Amino acid sequence: MTDFDQVLAERVKEIEKIIDGYLPPVKGKQKTILEAMDYSMKAGGKRLRPMLLLETCRLFGGREEEAAPFMAAIEMIHTSSLIHDDLPCMDNDQYRRGKKSTWAKFGEDMGVLAGDALIVEAFSAAARAFAVTEDPERVGKAIKILAEKTGIYGMIGGQVVDVELTDKPIDRDTLGFIYRLKTGALLEASMTIGAVLAGADEESCKKIGQIALDVGVAFQIQDDILDVTSSQEVLGKPVGSDVKNNKTTYVTLEGILRAREEVERLSKEALELLSLLDGRNAFLDELIRMLITRER
Ligand code: IPE
Ligand code: IPE
Ligand code: MG
Ligand code: MG
Ligand code: MG
Repeated sequence: MTDFDQVLAERVKEIEKIIDGYLPPVKGKQKTILEAMDYSMKAGGKRLRPMLLLETCRLFGGREEEAAPFMAAIEMIHTSSLIHDDLPCMDNDQYRRGKKSTWAKFGEDMGVLAGDALIVEAFSAAARAFAVTEDPERVGKAIKILAEKTGIYGMIGGQVVDVELTDKPIDRDTLGFIYRLKTGALLEASMTIGAVLAGADEESCKKIGQIALDVGVAFQIQDDILDVTSSQEVLGKPVGSDVKNNKTTYVTLEGILRAREEVERLSKEALELLSLLDGRNAFLDELIRMLITRER
């Protein structure tokens, strides 16, 4: 374990503690869905989106207390996207985060409902930011970004085109559209919300959005690479999912070597743009650098 890995593991623990505080108690007649939500949220995962949100907020001098509700919200939305992504009608995968995927454990019906519920809970968590903010306008703006980047102009829109074009040839432009939306949008939301909550000016928020989009598209290309080169033990989810589903990915279009180059190019572009901003967050820089060679 490198020093950075150790710091990262500590941060993940802190983030999970924050998120746990926003999870609804597992009780009542509808207990099954609460169990499924709790199981999926606590299964693990890199917690990258809440981490990026918090670190971007810190970059602009913001406070963790204000970021916390949105950290929980973005991880709930991300988790809901994974629950639905694994369903038999989507990628049909049985493992996620080192455990049975939500539908495989609780049934397809509960998988659909737990995913739905987590999206709604996310906005309920985000709304709790009004109670701790000094500037309700920032919270309102952040909620709008969260909605836009989750919905048809964001993650869900990207998943629609991804699913619809399964088994069909896809050109580079369309693949870029899918990646910017299905994966880029939630990273964009994470970092932009962090900046907005910290009171960054509009110009900086826009730049942060561009940086996040670069990181997000690189992240999806790396995900495609790992789907070919890694193992279920390391990833915690099945490998070969894209081949199984006959998906066109960056790897099938350009090959592994070009894919690796593109991950590095986009990440370095993001780091360059980040270095042009006024503030500095060494941990954030290191995190983006680490993602270039991530193995899980
Ligand atoms: C997986 O996301 C889905 C993609 C957008 C590629 P992550 O790789 O961040 O999944 P977790 O949260 O660590 O499980
Ligand atoms: C899905 O992309 C991105 C989401 C919005 C969930 P993938 O289908 O490649 O994600 P994994 O590999 O199953 O995590
Ligand atoms: Mg998918
Ligand atoms: Mg998938
Ligand atoms: Mg994948």
